[in-house]
Amino acid sequence: MAFWFNSDRERGRVFAEAFARELPDLNFVMDIERVDSGDIRYLLTWTAPSDLDRFKNLEIVFSIGAGVDQFRLETLPPGVKLVRMVEDGIVRMMQEYVTLAVLALHRNLKVYLGQQSEGRWQALPARQAADCRIGVLGLGMLGQSVIERLMPFGFPLSGWSRSPRQIDGVRCHHGAESLASFLGETDILVCLLPLTEETRGILDPRLFSALPPGASLIHVGRGAQLDHDALIDALDAGHLSGAVIDVTEPEPLPSEHPFWRHPQIMLTPHIASVTQPETAARSVIENIKRHRAGLDPIGLVDRSRGY
Ligand code: GLV
Repeated sequence: MAFWFNSDRERGRVFAEAFARELPDLNFVMDIERVDSGDIRYLLTWTAPSDLDRFKNLEIVFSIGAGVDQFRLETLPPGVKLVRMVEDGIVRMMQEYVTLAVLALHRNLKVYLGQQSEGRWQALPARQAADCRIGVLGLGMLGQSVIERLMPFGFPLSGWSRSPRQIDGVRCHHGAESLASFLGETDILVCLLPLTEETRGILDPRLFSALPPGASLIHVGRGAQLDHDALIDALDAGHLSGAVIDVTEPEPLPSEHPFWRHPQIMLTPHIASVTQPETAARSVIENIKRHRAGLDPIGLVDRSRGY
């Protein structure tokens, strides 16, 4: 019985050590050529290999990342479970990044950095946290943990999700019909939605126009959710005041792309949150133990929803 680790060797060494300790009966392999494909029960990978069908006894595919949109779900054999990465490292890094971005936008960091480069010493009016409403699009594990981290700052918090959620201290909206009212009361919008056919291109002119004047965007979902021209238009028209963008389509952006040099955009190269091998190994091991005990793994993807 074998576990195939289909990723870089450096992370693989961390996993191998933890697997040897916790699941000694599983053969941990990085070189797939050396094992009989029928032995592979579990696979950890970024995306599905094209010859997945030859692994006749495969039970679970673990995604290296929190997102699973890089898998073509219809090509995975029906009996195989797909599990997204739910681990403390990803959660903590996303909490850090969104907090950084919220505070940077709230405290006009980009404007002050611009003033510094011009040698200008000038205070701007400071809005207080209680007057800056944060709205999180997507209330899954990451959305909720980001909200929890932002709570002590005193920002009014709201969230939107496809299906109903209840979170203490947060105004929760759900469903397409309540999206516009959620947006209407959001000064800083955080996009943490999974990429599905419903969310592709969701950050579009209509969505931006539903935000109040002066609102800003933090995009840490998936690149294909954002209409780049619509964002530039909304910023240049003065309707939006700023954006922090960590994910784009394509990645990397071409060197002439306007996001690189736009005065109101802070751009980072998809680094908001990265799977950490120590904590990820723990979470995958825990999920294999759950699966063996007849329980669903944490992060099991519902194929009909696509996340
Ligand atoms: C990164 O974007 C991930 O899916 O973990």
